Amino acid sequence: MDTNVVKMNDSVFYVGVNDRKTYLFESLWPLERGVAYNSYLIMDEKVALVDTVEKTQMMNYVEKIAEVLGEGNKIDYLIINHMEPDHSGSIKEIVLRYPEIKIVGNTKTFDYLRNFFGIDRNLYEVKDGDELDLGSRKLKFYFTPMVHWPETMMTYDMKDKILFAGDAFGSFGSLDGGIYDDQVDMEILEEEMRRYYSNIVGKYGPMVQRALKKLEGVDIKMICATHGPIWKHDLNWVISLYDKMSRFVAENGVVLVYSSMYGNTEKMADEIAKSLKDEGVETVKVYDASKTHLSYILSDIYKYKGVILGSCAYNTVCHPPMEALLHKLDLYGTKDRLAASFGTYTWSGGGVKTINSFIDKLKWEYVADSVEAKCSPKKEDIEKCREIGKAMASKLRTCCR
Ligand code: FEO
Repeated sequence: MDTNVVKMNDSVFYVGVNDRKTYLFESLWPLERGVAYNSYLIMDEKVALVDTVEKTQMMNYVEKIAEVLGEGNKIDYLIINHMEPDHSGSIKEIVLRYPEIKIVGNTKTFDYLRNFFGIDRNLYEVKDGDELDLGSRKLKFYFTPMVHWPETMMTYDMKDKILFAGDAFGSFGSLDGGIYDDQVDMEILEEEMRRYYSNIVGKYGPMVQRALKKLEGVDIKMICATHGPIWKHDLNWVISLYDKMSRFVAENGVVLVYSSMYGNTEKMADEIAKSLKDEGVETVKVYDASKTHLSYILSDIYKYKGVILGSCAYNTVCHPPMEALLHKLDLYGTKDRLAASFGTYTWSGGGVKTINSFIDKLKWEYVADSVEAKCSPKKEDIEKCREIGKAMASKLRTCCR
């Protein structure tokens, strides 16, 4: 084949594309390692295309489809598991090229289809649990709402036991030459999966749990997500990671985030970090919220049990980068973390108070009293910082070994 289509078996072809040009996914999340928009073509007696790709990659995409189909061949069904435009962006073009195609989705899919693209014909509505006969195989549809939009569903190929999972089990990162889980660097992949999950899907943990329950007992040999590699060698690893992340199960370690204008709050952060290390905490991740994009910080907060937050006061609340992080943590309902706070003030304060109001709201457990130094940390403030490190280390020893 001329294009880099991958023949996955006698009938199923990978026709997805890489995007290494976009800087921010959803105009928000850095794509340092790019991203893949995955789509699949099933060549049975009837031909089905599963999801499409972001519109900027459309030309590359339609060439791949045309190559697999061969001259004069048509597509019978376009299955839409998810309507977010990174997957629905090429639907209009597909409909133009294959005007007889039937679009398979649910009532919510069609609502978004009309409103995004004005498409309202050749719709083939399915309900949860419905099956679609392609000839030698049937496709079964599992509705998985809010993973991560209301219309989201998954499509199961009952013959080859492939689950087309939409965003679930997806990750950031382009697919550089290999599309399968044993062809990628797992260390990098785990990082990008965690960042993808926490930032894109993370708010919907309970719905992910519901989807995992629904799929229990389904014999799955391969998971094809809309981003990231195809899982066929180690399905247990990715399912277990998703299960843990969606239940906020955390590892032993501390994320220490500070926002500091002139280095005084930063000095306190360094003292706490040193104390954590002195007390034997192996993983201590320190971030300056003004510099590191919050997607990386959020990802680590999903991963580790201990979270220590520090800010200078700024117009009676905390410094804006810390405020942005706190709002995100609140919006995503992050839970079950051990916490502490610190910071500085010059006249009326507000930085530490704001952090604590979020910790209270999220019902995280304080491991020590907060410390707020006037202008710059003095000896007694430093001592209190070290107490925070000691208390966190001690609590971590008892809660997650
Ligand atoms: Fe990859 Fe929710 O879109």
